[in-house]
Amino acid sequence: MWDELKRLAASGAGTTIAERFDNDNRAAEFSLNAAGMLFDYSKTALDEQSRAALVQLAKDAGVETHRDAMFTGKPINATEERAVLHTALRNLDGGPVVVGDADVMPEVHETLERMEDLAREIRRGEVTDVVNIGIGGSDLGPAMAYLALKPYADGPRCHFVSNVDGADIADTLRGLDPKTTLFIVASKTFTTIETMTNARTARAWLDDRRVSHEGRFVALSSNKEKAAEWGIPENRVFGFADWVGGRYSMWGPIGLSLMVAIGPEAFRAFLRGGQEMDRHFTAAPLHQNMPVLLALVGIWNNQVLGHATRAVLPYDNRLARLPAYLQQLEMESNGKSVAMDGSPLQVDSGPIVWGEPGTNGQHAFYQLIHQGTRVVPCEFMVAAEGHEPDLAHHHDLLIANCLAQSEALMRGRTLEEAREICARQGFERDELERQARHRVFPGDRPSTTLVYPQLTPEVLGKIVALYEHRVFVEGAILDINSFDQWGVELGKELAKALEPMVTGEAGTDEKDGSTRQLVEFVRRFRD
Ligand code: F6P
Repeated sequence: MWDELKRLAASGAGTTIAERFDNDNRAAEFSLNAAGMLFDYSKTALDEQSRAALVQLAKDAGVETHRDAMFTGKPINATEERAVLHTALRNLDGGPVVVGDADVMPEVHETLERMEDLAREIRRGEVTDVVNIGIGGSDLGPAMAYLALKPYADGPRCHFVSNVDGADIADTLRGLDPKTTLFIVASKTFTTIETMTNARTARAWLDDRRVSHEGRFVALSSNKEKAAEWGIPENRVFGFADWVGGRYSMWGPIGLSLMVAIGPEAFRAFLRGGQEMDRHFTAAPLHQNMPVLLALVGIWNNQVLGHATRAVLPYDNRLARLPAYLQQLEMESNGKSVAMDGSPLQVDSGPIVWGEPGTNGQHAFYQLIHQGTRVVPCEFMVAAEGHEPDLAHHHDLLIANCLAQSEALMRGRTLEEAREICARQGFERDELERQARHRVFPGDRPSTTLVYPQLTPEVLGKIVALYEHRVFVEGAILDINSFDQWGVELGKELAKALEPMVTGEAGTDEKDGSTRQLVEFVRRFRD
């Protein structure tokens, strides 16, 4: 099928995206309205044939079978022999979910209710500031969602400390009152060096101010023993099973800071949104399935057309952390070079994901997107309505800018049009020609646009679940295990060995010349 897709891409190369709109129905035929959102992928080089071939590719890859295996608790994370069931965390009113012989739902509900009790207690009490200490999946999800849902945040202020760079925790704690600050130590493993270092620093911060640790710490972890060793009482530890991957964990205990901020009801609305997307993903046929189509557009742009990156461009300032969140979700999941059976991948792995909110990005990197030599497929997203009714004119401008960018990327500007502009500006002859060439936009650059009604908790739940399932579908098609992350191990091991070299307790002889030189340069400032 890959050869067939490449053949279709080559045969369609002579037709521009704009020319494809000669068919009046293209916009409707190449978009999907589901779960209250509109996903428009008509401004891509896809036609009916290539879309059908991609759907066939998904079928051949067994996407539906894999999907059902995931939702029914089969150990699809085969290198770690784990089920993948973050969907159970949002299965609010669904049936049982069985792993091994046991239904996991009673424990999911019990943990959720315990979280809600604590969240209510915190929201009623004297805590003014909550500091979530975690990294990767134990940080990016709640940090992204806290910002996204600011209009709903009526609880204590939340802060997120992740980096082992002491600047992060120092800047966060400055100005906080130790008597009204609560620390949430979020770590699936409870061994992550950054998180444990920051948690110890938080403890020392309280000690220095002679404030008792009692009631000041909560732990979110799969490793209850380690949390207990750390002295956090059992009723303040919220566990989750190994079938919740770190980057898929914000739906459960890792979402506690978000729940404290927005309240249990709004958090449930977030879960409901995720569940609605699950229902759509499991029920809709592949060709009318939003996560599947989003994945297929991604596969088309990346593995078929060879565009190595994709830009996520939310025209929603409160989604400023979404690109960072998606970087982990997509790149930690599908950045792999071997197939499930350990053989080399036959196609490229998942793309490089990056982005920034619009309109800011327009004044920074869009220049390259419009006129650079490489094509960057873009994923725009925008809400029909903002949360600032008094500033509706801002939102109109925001939407106009978002739509203008996708239109500009598709249409471009020809040399002839550029010459006319330059002539109107008074340029003549050779200078006109020279100036005009700088004003040409190649156009024919693909983008998709997701429009959602408003960034409510429920809608955010839908968007996050949409992207989770997109990653799943791409992984299934590429025959990748999207749920392990062995690629992060080597750096961690080397860092452990390097620390004593940085402090001077160990020599650097065994290291390569570059590493030795870098350590020695740093050490010169210490001695
Ligand atoms: O560095 C990789 C990673 O294992 C991520 O997958 C995970 O989200 C993050 O570290 C944090 O891990 P933990 O929650 O166990 O502290």
